[in-house]
Amino acid sequence: MGRDVIIFDTTLRDGEQAPGNSMTAEEKLRLARQLDTLGVDVIEAGFPSASEGDRRGVLAIAESVRRPVIAALARCHDRDIDLAGEAVRPAARPRVHVFIATSDLHLQCKLRLSRDQCLERAGEAVRRARRYTDDVEFSAEDATRTDLEFLCRVVEAAIAAGATTINLPDTVGYALPVEYGAMFRAVRERVPGADRVVFSAHCHDDLGLAVANSLAAIEAGAGQVECTVNGIGERAGNAALEEIVVAGRVRPHAVAFHCGVNPQELYRTSQLLSHVIGVFPQPNKAVVGRNAFAHEAGIHQHGVLQNGLTYEIIRPEEVGVARSSLVLGKHSGRHALERRYRELGYEVDDATLRKLYDEFTTLADKKREILDEDLLALLHGRFHDAPEVYRLAHLQVTCGTVSATAEVRLAGPWNGAERGATAVGNGPIAAAFAAIAKVVGRQVDVLNLTVQSVTPGRDSLGQVLVQARIDGKSLSGHGASTDIVEASARALVHALNKVSHADQLEDQSLNASYFWGV
Ligand code: KIV
Ligand code: ZN
Repeated sequence: MGRDVIIFDTTLRDGEQAPGNSMTAEEKLRLARQLDTLGVDVIEAGFPSASEGDRRGVLAIAESVRRPVIAALARCHDRDIDLAGEAVRPAARPRVHVFIATSDLHLQCKLRLSRDQCLERAGEAVRRARRYTDDVEFSAEDATRTDLEFLCRVVEAAIAAGATTINLPDTVGYALPVEYGAMFRAVRERVPGADRVVFSAHCHDDLGLAVANSLAAIEAGAGQVECTVNGIGERAGNAALEEIVVAGRVRPHAVAFHCGVNPQELYRTSQLLSHVIGVFPQPNKAVVGRNAFAHEAGIHQHGVLQNGLTYEIIRPEEVGVARSSLVLGKHSGRHALERRYRELGYEVDDATLRKLYDEFTTLADKKREILDEDLLALLHGRFHDAPEVYRLAHLQVTCGTVSATAEVRLAGPWNGAERGATAVGNGPIAAAFAAIAKVVGRQVDVLNLTVQSVTPGRDSLGQVLVQARIDGKSLSGHGASTDIVEASARALVHALNKVSHADQLEDQSLNASYFWGV
């Protein structure tokens, strides 16, 4: 089966860094728990010096997720390293990950450092990180555009200072697989002490080669790959975890490595992340996209029915995708609902089940067939990352070709009473948002709004992600309904609940900067 390769998940750090992907500390903790269940070896939980929220998120994960190594990122600055070291200190297996750019381009234009200063900083940073833990990773940012001879000198300095993992990132997604593999071979051959450390690959997807490059690095001796769920990350994203893992399983002779990831948790993890950030993989995304296992052409369908191997190199069940989506409807009872959640891998407690069942019956009145995706949308909609201070009680919209009017009532912190308002807008969503803003008396500016249908068909649930600036704080909210105006209103109410939670934390003198992004 080949060598063991360490799966280093950076969904919560590099993945979160992309616009629209920011997560609250609570959301990160939920994902970290699922990454633990998935079986990754290392969770890079955040970049503590980037924001107070990030620091709190890393700390919360270090305190409660015990099996995997918990890593925190730091630039080669004392303050960064101290914040990262303190944040991971409670972890059962803490790691500090320090990085500095090594290419001349970055040194001259970004850091304004000479090569010698870079060497010195790298060594000092690793030594400082070692005060907190024996597990220190060093990354030579932009390694693929770094002069090879200098790269070897930096890696040698980092190893001499005590780094135990050396990461050679393709920061801008520039390398080709043959080049990336060659760089690993050269550095491993030339640097004294290279046999004492684990080499790591970290690839971005600007040329669509992140996974191919990661596999090339494994082939060239890398013992760790850094990746993200759904391949989320800066610009075109990072190497997709699920694709690396499945490539190793489908082609064990060609890419011979073994890892501890349980493939049956891949789809569930992908879905959880998508629901948390409100961004779903494109339908044709390998392994976890909606169409990854759909066979449209008759000739393909016929082949697959005769023998799956004709057109299917991955069986959906292997990655946790149910072969058939069981259909529930308005006559299905609570037990059927509970059983289906269990079959999908979720244990739901009684109180949650009761609420879910109410939502299920309301949905079943509007939608003939309830599919697994609908059940997941209901379930994920129930996980609140902020207390539910406001709730949408009523929404009535009239619209046409000229303008729209919305009448809204919210339940809120008003001693059990509801408050309402009417407003106009140049469309039904704008009118609903204006009415909600009136009720809560806040300045709401919408930055972005996306609508996605959860299942095919005309009666599909619409899932809305709204990014808004509310009284100066930028954050996101999501909502689902068969009516996209209602889903949008629910998404804004969710964002308002996050804002009130952030205000409350501020009142308690806790800095809650994570609520409004990085
Ligand atoms: O892409 C990159 O170079 C990084 C480093 C900080 C590891 O994300
Ligand atoms: Zn990166």
